[in-house]
Amino acid sequence: MSLKDKVVIVTGATSGIGEACAFAFGREGAKVVITGRNEEKLSNSVKNLEKGGITVLGILADAASESDNKRMAEQTIRHFGRIDVLINNAGISMRALFEDLDLEVFHKVMDTNFWGTVYATKFCLPEILKNKGSIVGVSSINGYRGTPARTAYTASKFAMNGFFESLRTEVMKRGVHILVASPGFTASNIRNNALRADGSVQGESPREEAKMMSSEEVANEILKATLKRKRDLVLTGQGKLAVFLNKWIPGIMDGIVYNHMAKEKDSPFK
Ligand SMILES: NC(=O)c1ccc[n+]([C@@H]2O[C@H](COP(=O)([O-])OP(=O)(O)OC[C@H]3O[C@@H](n4cnc5c(N)ncnc54)[C@H](OP(=O)(O)O)[C@@H]3O)[C@@H](O)[C@H]2O)c1
Repeated sequence: MSLKDKVVIVTGATSGIGEACAFAFGREGAKVVITGRNEEKLSNSVKNLEKGGITVLGILADAASESDNKRMAEQTIRHFGRIDVLINNAGISMRALFEDLDLEVFHKVMDTNFWGTVYATKFCLPEILKNKGSIVGVSSINGYRGTPARTAYTASKFAMNGFFESLRTEVMKRGVHILVASPGFTASNIRNNALRADGSVQGESPREEAKMMSSEEVANEILKATLKRKRDLVLTGQGKLAVFLNKWIPGIMDGIVYNHMAKEKDSPFK
């Protein structure tokens, strides 16, 4: 598959993995549509992509809004005439014990990560069916294995995985490719922007970001997997090991994961 003149939408592409995907796909010759909720960040990302010689359209859109997703698909078709690849990347995280968690925070995470994916896929699917294109879900190792103090985030990623397994099978004879990409810990803003129990922003990362895979490396892996029309992508050695062990020794993994996550700075459990 060549990306030359193909149209690729990346949701939540003003930072981290999404922005890196916009660069990676754009450098392959794709026309790129990026979204985000912050006008200033969006216009900075558009400028940076243009400086890199990439044809780009920025659309201010909230992934959690059904009407914004409809407008995103319509505006893309009006502007570029087609949609070939949708990368459902927009996402937020949280960190709090479930017993303390304001349910509004749970809703917000599901609305962005899960419903955002459902809405964007719904409105882009007719074009992607027509063009026999690709849909990518940026899930997580948390789509295979839950971690304590991340109930809403884990639930949103398990829901994404189930949605895409069902949809992939539904369209399997119609030429559409669906990739579920599951990064491990990746350096980005996700932990700075993660929500606490009361919905306030955490404002710092409790982990060593410098030791993680970079967003650019993740984006390159997503690009390669999309071009090869792969079904699943599981990233980082630690992530692959977690998925493997959880399949065979889930009970033992409960203890391993508990102890690992309890070591995070200011962990809400010990
Ligand atoms: N970093 C990791 O360790 C890791 C691991 C596994 C999976 N992931 C997944 O990778 C994806 C990207 O995360 P990241 O790590 O790159 O985080 P990031 O640096 O915080 O980037 C998130 C992007 O999504 C956008 N966004 C957030 N909420 C949005 C909304 N409601 N509507 C539209 N855009 C929204 C943000 O822009 P605005 O805030 O300006 O809207 C930003 O551009 C997420 O789905 C995340 O779950 C990340």
